Amino acid sequence: MVTLSFREANLFILELRFSSSRFLNRAMLAQKRASNIMIKSKAWNWDLSIAPWWEEPAAEVYPLLFKWNKMGFKKFLDLGCGIGRHSIFFANNGFEVDAFDLGEEGVRKLDKLAKEKGLPIRSKVSDMLSLPYEDNQFDCLVAYHVIYHSDDDGIKKVISEIKRVLKKDGEAYVTFNSQNSDSYKDLDNKHITENTIVKEKGHEAGIPHYYAKKENVENLLKDFEILEFSYKEEYYPDYMGAHYFVLVKNTKQPLP
Ligand SMILES: C[S@@+](CC[C@H](N)C(=O)[O-])C[C@H]1O[C@@H](n2cnc3c(N)ncnc32)[C@H](O)[C@@H]1O
Repeated sequence: MVTLSFREANLFILELRFSSSRFLNRAMLAQKRASNIMIKSKAWNWDLSIAPWWEEPAAEVYPLLFKWNKMGFKKFLDLGCGIGRHSIFFANNGFEVDAFDLGEEGVRKLDKLAKEKGLPIRSKVSDMLSLPYEDNQFDCLVAYHVIYHSDDDGIKKVISEIKRVLKKDGEAYVTFNSQNSDSYKDLDNKHITENTIVKEKGHEAGIPHYYAKKENVENLLKDFEILEFSYKEEYYPDYMGAHYFVLVKNTKQPLP
């Protein structure tokens, strides 16, 4: 008879859970490929959760403001604006700002703040899978912790939309979730494909998240020139989140 120590038994159970979840993932992946349907978008509800940092511009956008100002850029898009911290920041500093988000609550909060501050920000409720703008509209855009709220097909679609709305030589700052993040490895989250999970708990329940490896990011952005590429891990008491931060330039022409 085989006897297992407590630790070995736990490892065995964990391995069983992992292989069965991998089996289910493969089955779901096959089903998704057969249907070829992009996962349905789901917005944040900004009436439910506002951590204070969502009200202040992210540290990474300060150098972008100085750079884009110096380059004479004017037309800025806040893609997936949330409650609009970056819209307000760029509008306050002389940019012509368009902003949109799938979540009505976020856009409503942005509109209220923009009105109070007398800033002429054009806002919309819309889905990033089909950007509500004409081709070659923007000098620059920020999509901060947004475009990964989709699946493998969805994120490709958003990136092609970014290329479409950016002017030639325009620049985009985009962030990606890394597969090193704890939430990617959390077996309680439902895997839709190898790279995509849908969170089941908390304020992001039902919202898809695409997790990339470095090579996925490079491949997704192959039609752009990569100007800056960085990786950062953020530690919280109960969680580590890892992201790629990428600045790209729309130099390359679209593929025929
Ligand atoms: C982590 S928040 C970031 C908000 C903002 N970019 C910021 O940095 O403050 C992610 C935002 O993406 C929005 N979002 C998710 N899926 C979306 C979609 N398909 N189209 C547009 N916005 C979406 C959410 O509603 C949410 O406001």
